[in-house]
Amino acid sequence: MKEIRRGTLQEQTFYEQVGGEDTFRRLVHHFYRGVAEDPLLRPMYPEEDLGPAEERLTLFLIQYWGGPTTYSDNRGHPRLRMRHAPFAVDRAAHDAWLRHMRAAVDELGLSAEHEETLWRYLTYAAASMVNTPDPE
Ligand code: HEM
Repeated sequence: MKEIRRGTLQEQTFYEQVGGEDTFRRLVHHFYRGVAEDPLLRPMYPEEDLGPAEERLTLFLIQYWGGPTTYSDNRGHPRLRMRHAPFAVDRAAHDAWLRHMRAAVDELGLSAEHEETLWRYLTYAAASMVNTPDPE
């Protein structure tokens, strides 16, 4: 059996593997450029300035994937479903959110494996955020 010498095995978080903070900043920045132009999503965001919302999502994703825990240091436990309760997240909002996220993920140029891991999470998380049935 091949021996792995102590200290030679580099264990990296997903956060590190995909390029760290810069990658998540690029992802969410691109995503919010889409949101800013979206007639369905833009009115859902309470603040005039999308900058602080962009920062919150960036820090959340950084923390989720193993980077610094600045998100929870500032905001506490994520409780994302609860934090989305004030917003009517229906199927149309879900689809629009994922469409902008897909475009942003495509811009990153990740390896197929990393991209699949990230995308699987985002689709799962988006589905779990739906809290409002579609209008009749
Ligand atoms: C499914 C469609 C979704 C819609 C329409 C939506 C919409 C929103 C809106 C309107 C806000 C308030 C903006 C702000 O003040 O930060 C928000 C906040 C946030 N969303 Fe979403 N969201 C969706 C899915 C997701 C998903 C899948 C995630 C995580 C992967 C996520 C993570 C967050 C985070 C971290 C915040 C800030 C929470 C805080 O600290 O206050 N959202 N979202």
